[in-house]
Amino acid sequence: MKLLNLNITFEQYTGVEELSGQDLALCQNAETALASSYSPYSKFRVGTAIRLASGEIILGSNQENLAYPSGLCAERVALFSIGSAYPNAVIESMAITAQTDAFEILKPVTSCGGCLQVMAEFERKQGSPIEVIFYCLNGEVLKVPSVQSLLPFSFVEDRLAAKA
Ligand code: THU
Repeated sequence: MKLLNLNITFEQYTGVEELSGQDLALCQNAETALASSYSPYSKFRVGTAIRLASGEIILGSNQENLAYPSGLCAERVALFSIGSAYPNAVIESMAITAQTDAFEILKPVTSCGGCLQVMAEFERKQGSPIEVIFYCLNGEVLKVPSVQSLLPFSFVEDRLAAKA
């Protein structure tokens, strides 16, 4: 038996105003994306902004449905829209934030496992790291250098890969 240990390194900021210009702009775009959230059931709005290597920013927000499992998280809404509109795009960074009228969100909201799995595949496919910024409105910000560091045990099975 071997005991192994995994470590991740990430940046913590007390507020969005401590970020560099590009990161701050991405967080502000994620905040803008909150407005298009369709979340009448959870009343929990999630917004994301994704910066492509081209400099273009793509927004996404959570989209719910009366048949609850048919809804989709903000991250996957944005990623799949990139996959369909810009299939060869390289993603540099994504910012994620959330808001609800029901309570004050005091910590950055981190992505669910399903979104991490999808983010991991985008990262693997493009062959370069995607930075992830979890942004708490009026609070702490976490900046993680790659999806791999968030989900080191993502599902990978190369023998299932489609032969192009
Ligand atoms: N949600 C996201 O948009 N992203 C996540 O990573 C986790 C949760 C959404 C789904 C649902 O519309 C609402 O937040 C409450 O779960």
